[in-house]
Amino acid sequence: MLSRRMIRPLVAGLALATLAGCKPLDDTMVMIFGRSMRDQRSFDPYENTRGAPEGSVAFAYGNAPAAPGEVNVGQPEGVAVPHLTQADLGLPGVGSEKVQALVNPTDPDDPESLARGEELYMRFCVVCHGPDGIGANAYIADKHPILPAYNLSGPIVANYSDAYIYTMIRVGRGLMPEYGSRISEFDRWNVVNYVRKLQRDAGNLPAGGE
Ligand code: HEC
Repeated sequence: MLSRRMIRPLVAGLALATLAGCKPLDDTMVMIFGRSMRDQRSFDPYENTRGAPEGSVAFAYGNAPAAPGEVNVGQPEGVAVPHLTQADLGLPGVGSEKVQALVNPTDPDDPESLARGEELYMRFCVVCHGPDGIGANAYIADKHPILPAYNLSGPIVANYSDAYIYTMIRVGRGLMPEYGSRISEFDRWNVVNYVRKLQRDAGNLPAGGE
């Protein structure tokens, strides 16, 4: 049986180990994610923290919170967009029933959509996924050795549904952060269309759409 004399140092030792453990754990998080809970801030730099004033025409609408005090889930006005979480990713490439029910509202071959998708891809995705979608060509691949394992223009992601890629952009997965708070509803589909173009350019998707 543990006596009182033994328990005290044990508890103190455990507390010390837990506290000391935070620093290496944080440092590991920085190594993997590039940031840790310690340097968090309340709002993401591109996040709309308030809805547009009533009656105004916002410059880039489609990403406002659904209601005051609600988290920004990228819901455009007048379009029913289901609430999605990472749990909806379910089966890789397919996703939950809610994901499967999503329909790409844009024309995947529309040059304007592709141009917008490229602009956003080059702003948000290129750093981790590389200009051609190949993780090994990403600018930070040497610092994040996991990235070369992923190839957005490769045959695996070419077989993913549009809706699954859209959902990944919106909610993130594993080591990938969410972009739902930064990329608005229709722009997410524009990015999906651009990822499809990268797959076509790589010869992993037949020309002229899916
Ligand atoms: C901070 C780095 C980072 C950024 C920026 C990023 N991703 Fe990712 N992405 C990842 C990582 C890491 C994974 C692997 C996720 C996992 O471990 O499940 C991934 C995986 C993916 C996958 C699934 C690949 C597969 O083989 O299953 C898709 C699709 C994807 N990302 C699309 C995008 C798009 C589109 C953007 C831009 C809107 C983007 N990512 C931005 C890091 C990033």
